[in-house]
Amino acid sequence: MRRIIIDTDPGVDDAIAILMALSAPSVEVVGLTVVGGNVPHARGLCNALALLDFVGRSDVPVFRGSNRPLVGRFANAQHFHGTSGITRRLPEPTSQPAPQRAVDFLAGQLTNHPGQITLVAIGPLTNLARLERRHPGSLSRAASLVVMGGVVDSPGNITPHAEFNFYCDPLAAQEVLATGVPLTLVDLDACRQVTLSRDRAFNLKANNRFGKLALEIIQNWFKADEGRESMLFYDQIAMAAAFCPEVITTRQVAVTVETGGPEAGASHVVATDGPVAVADVVDVERLFSLMGEWLRWEQV
Ligand code: BDR
Ligand code: CA
Repeated sequence: MRRIIIDTDPGVDDAIAILMALSAPSVEVVGLTVVGGNVPHARGLCNALALLDFVGRSDVPVFRGSNRPLVGRFANAQHFHGTSGITRRLPEPTSQPAPQRAVDFLAGQLTNHPGQITLVAIGPLTNLARLERRHPGSLSRAASLVVMGGVVDSPGNITPHAEFNFYCDPLAAQEVLATGVPLTLVDLDACRQVTLSRDRAFNLKANNRFGKLALEIIQNWFKADEGRESMLFYDQIAMAAAFCPEVITTRQVAVTVETGGPEAGASHVVATDGPVAVADVVDVERLFSLMGEWLRWEQV
């Protein structure tokens, strides 16, 4: 059984990635830690709880994390994810966030289960940077760390230079990368290889509760704007790579992040041999077949 903690800002693609983890075989989701990002922290917390309630998994604890970056102002992406963040109005959650703070939960789990926790970070890296500030060395105790963020070879998606997660908290991204902890980085260049067309999205049928909700979120996202022809995948790729590394090929590099100025959040490869396994080529067919398997999607 693989034990996983998801650090997330739910978020359309975050929600789908969480549903993938919940439906993947031999995976125990130990907890969700929430960070402000796609939506304000309070909204993200509510989305995480509501999503778990809705699929009957309110046993998975949800922890409050950071509601703003280490420095500077909070930016969100509700233009993309909708005001609710997950395109689907879910019933108000009946469960509450756990009393412990995200950083303390993460530190406790990583200390008590060294080498056993897979950590998948799919939002701004504020929680992880705060974890290292407060409990130094924690990240090195993860079995593996997979991060969705950055863009090493092409333009950004929020500014010409930066990808959204790194842009939201560039200092946090830089601090996490500066720890030198080995990690897999699924950057925008990888994400831009994976699209789901409108036609394909409306020709899928799901056969379990996780897959049904994921599909509804995707279809609602298309319905919100008739001009949307295809959806890029982000956090879904990081989640698949966490359990099935052969979904991506990688190359080892060292990466730094601009922490301020007009290029804040820009990521640079500064060495061709380093602790970061940055995604190169995504095996798109393998990714869709894994999602199909876990979420029980089939073509109609
Ligand atoms: C990343 O930013 C968010 O909008 C997505 O959830 C993803 O984590 C893509 O740049
Ligand atoms: Ca995200």
